[in-house]
Amino acid sequence: MSQRRVALVTGGSRGIGRAIAQDLGRDWHVLVGGRTSAAVAPVVASLPSAEPFVCDLADEEATALAARRISHLDALVHSAGIALGGHVADLTRDQLRHIFEVNVIAVADLTRLLLPLLRASGDGHVVALNSGSGFASGQPGSTAYNGSKHALRVLTDALREEERGRVRVTSIHPGRTDSDMQRQLQATSGRDYRAEDFVRPETVAALVRTALETSPEAQLETLSVRPVVTS
Ligand SMILES: NC(=O)c1ccc[n+]([C@@H]2O[C@H](COP(=O)([O-])OP(=O)(O)OC[C@H]3O[C@@H](n4cnc5c(N)ncnc54)[C@H](OP(=O)(O)O)[C@@H]3O)[C@@H](O)[C@H]2O)c1
Repeated sequence: MSQRRVALVTGGSRGIGRAIAQDLGRDWHVLVGGRTSAAVAPVVASLPSAEPFVCDLADEEATALAARRISHLDALVHSAGIALGGHVADLTRDQLRHIFEVNVIAVADLTRLLLPLLRASGDGHVVALNSGSGFASGQPGSTAYNGSKHALRVLTDALREEERGRVRVTSIHPGRTDSDMQRQLQATSGRDYRAEDFVRPETVAALVRTALETSPEAQLETLSVRPVVTS
């Protein structure tokens, strides 16, 4: 491997994570995360220096096994995530467990597993893809997703203080962004999909690069990016 710095991008197979992998892939070595080899292979193949990081992040053992294969890491970008609507009257324990497992617990666990490598890097960085939902509460149907993103914000805020001076931590809060997740959300709401109304994944990816390239005496702690058009 060359002198490239090494980033793991979870959720690198699609959407925002794929845009991040493709942007960083210009000059970083990228571990492209996704649940199946088939999903990550095209992204890996499109980059000059990349390899797959395949595991279901809801699976504790599979996550630990995949993490153990990494020997050097400079940046851990958590983009994997799922969305779920539903009123409290209808949400089941299994639904709530699953979204918190993927959006919060897996983020904490993977970070714990890889922190020794990030500390050893000398310029280690954790970037979490949160959401505007990480600041919002009170909308009917928002308990599962917004609750998980609030918990993720608590996690990254605490991690930033715990690792201050060792590993930098950035929380990025996009509004609606053009991706499979947004397509699904708009379809569920019965709205036509207008990609041009949403933030481009490449725009979010550029913010991740800006955070990672910020001069080492400073850290971009919390960034919000929202569409100009709101509806
Ligand atoms: N799109 C938006 O409007 C928006 C706005 C604000 C914040 N966000 C946040 O941005 C992040 C990326 O969202 P996106 O829009 O890019 O979503 P997306 O298009 O649905 O992609 C989700 C990614 O997460 C991966 N993933 C899901 N469950 C996983 C699991 N159990 N184990 C491993 N990987 C898993 C998927 O991998 P597979 O290919 O294997 O399924 C895929 O790569 C999420 O955290 C989301 O909450 C999105």
